[in-house]
Amino acid sequence: MAVFGASGDLTARKLLPALYNLARNDLLPQEFAILGFAKDDFPEEEFRKRVRENIRAYSGAPPDCKLCDWLAERSYYLSGDFKNPADYVRLKDRITQLTQSLNTGGNVFYYLATLPQFFAEIIRQLGEQGLASEDNGRWRRVIIEKPFGSDLESAKALNAEIGQVLKERQIYRIDHYLGKETVQNILVFRFSNGIFEPVWNRRYIDHVQITVAETLGVERRGGYYDRAGCLRDMVPNHILQLVSLTAMEPPISFQADAVRDEQSKALHAMTPISPEDVLSRAVRGQYAEGVVGSEHVPGYRSEEFVDPHSNTETFVALKLMVDNWRWADVPFYVRTGKRLPRRATEIVIQFRRAPFVLFRETSVGTLTPNLLIMHIQPDEGISLRFGAKVPGAHVKLGAVTMDFKYSDYFGAEPSTGYERLLYDCMIGDATLFQRADMVEAGWSVVEPALDVWKALPPRAFPNYVAGTWGPKEADDLLRRDNRQWRTE
Ligand code: BG6
Repeated sequence: MAVFGASGDLTARKLLPALYNLARNDLLPQEFAILGFAKDDFPEEEFRKRVRENIRAYSGAPPDCKLCDWLAERSYYLSGDFKNPADYVRLKDRITQLTQSLNTGGNVFYYLATLPQFFAEIIRQLGEQGLASEDNGRWRRVIIEKPFGSDLESAKALNAEIGQVLKERQIYRIDHYLGKETVQNILVFRFSNGIFEPVWNRRYIDHVQITVAETLGVERRGGYYDRAGCLRDMVPNHILQLVSLTAMEPPISFQADAVRDEQSKALHAMTPISPEDVLSRAVRGQYAEGVVGSEHVPGYRSEEFVDPHSNTETFVALKLMVDNWRWADVPFYVRTGKRLPRRATEIVIQFRRAPFVLFRETSVGTLTPNLLIMHIQPDEGISLRFGAKVPGAHVKLGAVTMDFKYSDYFGAEPSTGYERLLYDCMIGDATLFQRADMVEAGWSVVEPALDVWKALPPRAFPNYVAGTWGPKEADDLLRRDNRQWRTE
């Protein structure tokens, strides 16, 4: 594994601990080796020290961890400039030498844990040095981090550029949401149970709500975030993964392309929001100072590396429609934001209400609809809400919930979410990675909002207080349809 950006945060916090977890579960070959590549100039010993330290810090490995030593001993480092062809010659020599001395067999995957502006350049240089060519039965694969492009046009351009060097089957576009067990479980839940699929459609489902709420602000990533904004950062990737897994048709197998074909069809069935509708179907917000939990936090405009007059959104809510036979007229409301009151990612399927006629003569005023809630994180699980009679002489209804918690049944294995993705890349299974057409379809969905918002700067930012559920307009988005967000 050759890691570009090996001195960065992603390598430290996610990739190294994930490799350690794989090794713990005997899922790394004995011949495995890591070659770090980054511009920081430090000796190989220093990299090895970091490997040990980061694994301990972020994966809870014990201080005398033998596996950490094993991984550290198999770690190598090369400092170089991503733009300098001579450094790729050195990289090539190093890979050849390690392949021989460690008997790795010659398969290599490259992980681009770098700033996005380097993706195309690195791949071009790999191509020029022949580092991406698969000869003598050895494979070469490239994992590309997000963001993949910054709009539809740039994503298309990037796909075209890297397509000159790599075949689609060599490209692994990562979306770390697909590494989460609970996200993978959406498919298993839907397609391995006979009782849900028959009601999984417009006849029984009133609408779907997807919330990805964070309590964190922009931390130290203000420089990136202030340019990207919440819509780009979360929607075409993570949120649309959740939408497409919820909305897709059953694939004919769990083969990568069978699954991705269906996801792609669901994404293509999403009607782009017309520019006129952006104002009524897309809501943006930015947080002002406030209190999250018990902590007083600054407003977005006072965050480090953020323009004090910034008009970048930190909250988005959208009403999306999937225009096919299964979902026509069933809205998918999605919202995501920073500095919201609690951390929660969940998919809520709200079923249609039962007819009221039976209860007309009783004191029951309304029937609460059934909800199926997939708790993606934290408190991973699934719950089903239904009405039940409150014991007593009068007919009174209470809403009760049946809860399944992953931790109760399966325990909690330490995981960064990257284990499965790294492993799948090594075994050549691209099911959980985004294909070019999916990335482009995702950008097409959000492009109208990007364009309209750019043309019409927000007038009332900041418009929500940190620690609240976003601007009032997000509530209005559902209220206009006689619905409301589930916030308990
Ligand atoms: C990243 C975004 O892709 O996902 C971050 O760039 C966001 O802004 C993060 O905080 C959320 O990931 P998770 O796994 O914590 O839900």
